[in-house]
Amino acid sequence: MNQTLATADATQKWGQALGEQLQAGDVIALCGHLGAGKTQATKGIIAGLGSKIDATSPTFTLVHEYLDGRLPVFHFDFYRMDDAAQVYTVGWDDFLDEPGVIIVEWADLFPDLLPSQTRWFVFESLPTGERRVMEKSAL
Ligand SMILES: Nc1ncnc2c1ncn2[C@@H]1O[C@H](COP(=O)(O)OP(=O)(O)O)[C@@H](O)[C@H]1O
Ligand SMILES: [Mg+2]
Repeated sequence: MNQTLATADATQKWGQALGEQLQAGDVIALCGHLGAGKTQATKGIIAGLGSKIDATSPTFTLVHEYLDGRLPVFHFDFYRMDDAAQVYTVGWDDFLDEPGVIIVEWADLFPDLLPSQTRWFVFESLPTGERRVMEKSAL
């Protein structure tokens, strides 16, 4: 799953291909600097799971739920969280028990919260402005 992603559209398509393969219980951690493409990839993952909703980053509600696709999807952005305790306050443990897919942007801010089956992806900008995504076995 290491790939160069030339455009935002290519990043969405990468996410879509990933989303089409996901199963209940999968957890996807997306890391990388602000603007690296985590939300673009998330839009694709959610589309690949069959949702028709244009995904946006959770802000005040802290988690967005997409229930209209093949599996329920729960999208977190840890950048919005003050600390790990706040993630539990919004029901982290309950979401982990759901038979759905969890996507976490900025998962590396609180890596200890992520279960062992988590798949970790790191996005980087290249000097050309393209992005590169690398799958890591762990952080
Ligand atoms: N190859 C690319 N992949 C993803 N985003 C890209 C790419 N090239 C340019 N962009 C732009 O970079 C920004 C990425 O934003 P976003 O996905 O919200 O980043 P993040 O969630 O990592 O902060 C968008 O404005 C997008 O249009
Ligand atoms: Mg984002």
